Amino acid sequence: MCPSKPGFYSRHIAPYLVHGACSLGVIAEQRRKIVPKAAGVVLEVGIGSGLNVPHYDPGKVRAVIGIDPDPKLNEIGRKRWDNADFEIEVRQESAEDMSLETASADTALVTYSFCTIPRPELALAEIRRVLKPGGRLLFCEHGRSTNPGTVKWQDRLNPLWKKLAGGCNLNRNIAGLIQDAGFEISSLENYTLPHTPALIGFHYRGEAIPS
Ligand SMILES: C[S@@+](CC[C@H](N)C(=O)[O-])C[C@H]1O[C@@H](n2cnc3c(N)ncnc32)[C@H](O)[C@@H]1O
Repeated sequence: MCPSKPGFYSRHIAPYLVHGACSLGVIAEQRRKIVPKAAGVVLEVGIGSGLNVPHYDPGKVRAVIGIDPDPKLNEIGRKRWDNADFEIEVRQESAEDMSLETASADTALVTYSFCTIPRPELALAEIRRVLKPGGRLLFCEHGRSTNPGTVKWQDRLNPLWKKLAGGCNLNRNIAGLIQDAGFEISSLENYTLPHTPALIGFHYRGEAIPS
């Protein structure tokens, strides 16, 4: 097989680049601010290589069901869920069509995945379905800046970035997507990561409940 084919890149190279970028210390700091809030039965959408696993509070979490269609990231993450102090089940499937039962999760956690899921509005509809009444969505994502100058470059560079970065989009309005899917955002912090280009560093971190 020719290594320059997009299929080869996205199957064998992009997952390692995504895992490397998601392993940065500055990203781990963001995880520490959101993941310990998860409680009960947790649906983690886009669990990837399992980098959130060490940040869960084992005293609060009953079980984690991780969803991710990428077999390579699943393989990279396996040691993290095999060594966890709580039950983790990973299902290799798309968040746009999940096999989880309706009203079966207390918390949905999504970190750095709404940027990549091809149809985030379908994933959010599924999250709504799977959350129990009173359940909440925790999110930490990069996305569309509030600075028009940055947005101009996010829109320009997005097609190239998406090809190189495993389908990641620079310019999604994460809060808008969540609200459009029928969630009420109960807390939201927008900020740019220190020492990080605003193109990729603009963040949305918060909580939402189905309205
Ligand atoms: C940038 S990685 C983030 C991984 C992980 N959430 C983290 O914080 O390290 C984006 C993740 O979204 C996953 N993804 C892409 N399409 C998806 C889909 N349709 N359903 C669920 N996850 C998806 C990718 O496989 C990848 O694991």
